[in-house]
Amino acid sequence: MTSLVLEPLSTYRSYPPDEMVARARAFYEDIKRRRTVRDFSDRPVPREVIEYALLAAGTAPSGANLQPWHFTVITDQNIKRRIREEAEVEEREFYNGRAPQEWLDALAPLGTDERKPFVETAPVLIAIFGQRSSEGPDGRRVKNYYVPESVGIATGFLIASLHAAGLVTLTHTPNPMGFLNQICHRPESEKPYILLVVGYPAEDCTVPVHGGSRGRSRRSPLGSKAAPGAVSATWVKVSHTPCGARPRCWACHEVALATVPLVCWVPAETLRLCCPHLRSG
Ligand SMILES: Cc1cc2nc3c(=O)[nH]c(=O)nc-3n(C[C@H](O)[C@H](O)[C@H](O)COP(=O)(O)O)c2cc1C
Repeated sequence: MTSLVLEPLSTYRSYPPDEMVARARAFYEDIKRRRTVRDFSDRPVPREVIEYALLAAGTAPSGANLQPWHFTVITDQNIKRRIREEAEVEEREFYNGRAPQEWLDALAPLGTDERKPFVETAPVLIAIFGQRSSEGPDGRRVKNYYVPESVGIATGFLIASLHAAGLVTLTHTPNPMGFLNQICHRPESEKPYILLVVGYPAEDCTVPVHGGSRGRSRRSPLGSKAAPGAVSATWVKVSHTPCGARPRCWACHEVALATVPLVCWVPAETLRLCCPHLRSG
């Protein structure tokens, strides 16, 4: 058994409360601009950006710190073409019989179909694998724990980092993705989770409107009913109200029907608000 080795937490930084709020808000303001893009330019991306984003992904927490992930970066045009061909084989089956109607209905607002030209157009693909087991220090296979959770968190870090650097991504999940093992020469013990398509948006790029004709709006996790004993999330945020102007809902920007002081955080139940986010809070 390996022994426990401790070190002081030297990487932690503390901030005054005002700065904490400013930093949290700045992060939110930036990350809320992220969108899934399906129209890519073929403009090449700087290799170092990809490298730093992968380093960021590698800082993610993981079950028992086993870091059960592998990222394969693909820029070669021929390999991208092969991946597109294989993905389209699976997607053709998916859209023409394999997917239940309910799933197709859920996808309808996105306008997706079996054609995946972006897999070839985008300059970078990152095939993300979860390692069910990996090689221990003594060369023996060791089982990994919480693989999907760990890979999902690392992928979130990766997407956030690429977004922060000014790139766009598509979380692509052709199903099944076993062909990625063959093309990327990865062992059977690794399960492909996501094919992340990375690059710049095409000039005429459009994205589905969140909450458009039948789609779902971005839901605010604030204002949802708290489970008994959990910290109540009924405090909602409204934006500043200079000169007594009516506040706006933080989630959908609808104008609230009540006036509140300049303070930003208010209990939802004390406000009569016209937007569904806050009314349900
Ligand atoms: C696990 C996962 C799988 C996804 N698979 C696909 C996919 O195969 N094809 C696709 O076009 N979009 C895919 N998406 C993107 C979602 O459709 C997209 O995140 C969602 O519509 C919200 O849009 P937004 O990312 O622009 O906010 C996937 C997203 C996730 C998280």
